[in-house]
Amino acid sequence: MKKRPIVVGNWKMELSHKAELELIRALKNMLKGVPIKSEVVVCPSYPSLPAIAEALKKNSKIAVGAQNVFLEEKGAYTGQVSVLDIKPFVNWSLVGHSEVRAAAGVTDDIVVKTAAMLRGHNINPIVCIGESEEERRSEQTVTKIRTQVASLIEGLDRTSLVQTVIAYEPIWAIGSGQTPDPDDVAQIVLLIRRQLTDRYDQELAERVRIIYGGSVTPENAGHYVGGPNADGLLIGGASLHPQKFMEIIQAVDSAFGEA
Ligand code: 13P
Repeated sequence: MKKRPIVVGNWKMELSHKAELELIRALKNMLKGVPIKSEVVVCPSYPSLPAIAEALKKNSKIAVGAQNVFLEEKGAYTGQVSVLDIKPFVNWSLVGHSEVRAAAGVTDDIVVKTAAMLRGHNINPIVCIGESEEERRSEQTVTKIRTQVASLIEGLDRTSLVQTVIAYEPIWAIGSGQTPDPDDVAQIVLLIRRQLTDRYDQELAERVRIIYGGSVTPENAGHYVGGPNADGLLIGGASLHPQKFMEIIQAVDSAFGEA
């Protein structure tokens, strides 16, 4: 089975509800009649999920994801959002974005349990991993990635792993305009695939999609995908601009051959 590239837009908390609706309308129009090879996912803010899902009802080209979800389904958890709340509207959810890990004390253990819980609801997790600036400087990148991937491998069964997207987002590259050398990203992708092969087999390792995120632009998008590099991209800032997002999708598509 040929792997489909995936492009994910994480809108974070950047736009008003009205602006999110305008953005999805613009994206829909832009994609109309254009053959797209990549799977495209947008992750709006929680309150916009129902309206965005409704706006995309007849559009099979764009899927909806949540930006996060709480591990527990129900209970006295003030301010948290349950999988049951997002389930009617999404096929995807980000898990363990570094901004969530930092703000909410989310650990690798919580991340993997949340990913497993999502699979139980038939929602595909996009699990974010990556090293901090400090870890990069002290040459801890490989150790950090290995640890995060080991925890995923331990906590997810084969079927769940295949449905999971692993997003490598070096924390220092997020929103900073600083980007890693594409060869370094290819090395990380290889490292993750080796770990998956060691635990399972090459077939599984090749099927799991590993994507890159951090200061992706239309100009640099093509450097990080295709061949030994990533299977797609996770985009913050540039995903808020329909034209830029579209150009990134096209860059990914062309790295993977024609649609
Ligand atoms: P930027 O593309 O704005 O650097 O954000 C990356 C990110 O955090 C996506 O989840």
